[in-house]
Amino acid sequence: MKKIEYAEILINDKIADDIYSMTLFSPFIAKEAKAGQFVEVYTGLGEHILPRPISISEIDSQNGKITLVYQIVGKGTEYFSKCPIGDLIKIMGPCGNGFEIKKNAKKHILVGGGIGIPPLVQLCRDIKGKAVVFLGAKSNPVLTDKFRKLGAEVYIASDDGSIGFKGNVVELMKEIKPEGDMVYSCGPKIMLKFLAQWAKENNIPVQVSMEERMACGIGACVGCAVKIRKKGESDWQNLKVCKDGPVFMGDEVMWDE
Ligand SMILES: Cc1cc2nc3c(=O)[nH]c(=O)nc-3n(C[C@H](O)[C@H](O)[C@H](O)COP(=O)(O)OP(=O)(O)OC[C@H]3O[C@@H](n4cnc5c(N)ncnc54)[C@H](O)[C@@H]3O)c2cc1C
Ligand code: FES
Repeated sequence: MKKIEYAEILINDKIADDIYSMTLFSPFIAKEAKAGQFVEVYTGLGEHILPRPISISEIDSQNGKITLVYQIVGKGTEYFSKCPIGDLIKIMGPCGNGFEIKKNAKKHILVGGGIGIPPLVQLCRDIKGKAVVFLGAKSNPVLTDKFRKLGAEVYIASDDGSIGFKGNVVELMKEIKPEGDMVYSCGPKIMLKFLAQWAKENNIPVQVSMEERMACGIGACVGCAVKIRKKGESDWQNLKVCKDGPVFMGDEVMWDE
């Protein structure tokens, strides 16, 4: 069940160029949420009335807090960056399905690209067993220390080579050849597409969290449809990222549309 809360802003810090980390007091959502779910954040700006979907990066259910990490790309996210501590912000959640942690798995592979990295932090906390994490970005992936502190084996890639492997995360995975029982991922569609291909070749199931553009955010329009063919079914269907996703199995997604 999701609900609207007026959450108090506890922290709203810049953590990298154009990237902010916002911690909110939001007891209902903190209690209900799981890794990979997101919240719809309202801007209160007249001409930008639609809420903006932002993944939940960390959940502290005991203290009723959630943390969002967001990048300024337009008016909505710019507005969030200017919200002062102590203000209330309207959010709705938890939205979407989230990741399904594979039970009894010995090794999990987490792959994040750009602003798709944040939801993997909570996932890394929740999984039992070993986590091997691949993080990529144009220049400097965010939150890398969070994964190290959680005891994960972390590999870094950057497009411009300024840190770690020069290239994208999937190229890096081809070098490292990680083994695991499940891959969990979030990032740009192109990264997810090549990752799904890699996972298929290596016979490892992969969950992909899609970040399609959204409109209503509650399943009432088709603004966020993706073509999915469920296992055992012959027909493709249009599923909604906001309601049926954002997480789908990589081998069920039609990547080339
Ligand atoms: C399920 C989900 C989870 C998300 N989680 C996060 C997150 O944790 N952190 C974060 O920073 N962002 C996340 N996003 C993306 C975020 O929702 C958008 O960046 C935000 O809505 C942009 O709002 P804006 O008003 O600032 O920009 P707008 O003015 O709406 O758009 C500015 C520019 O950004 C582009 N844009 C907007 N939304 C997207 C999108 N979804 N994908 C690619 N380009 C887009 C537009 O085409 C435009 O060029 C997520 C999106 C989805 C669907
Ligand atoms: S954004 Fe309207 S159905 Fe998903």
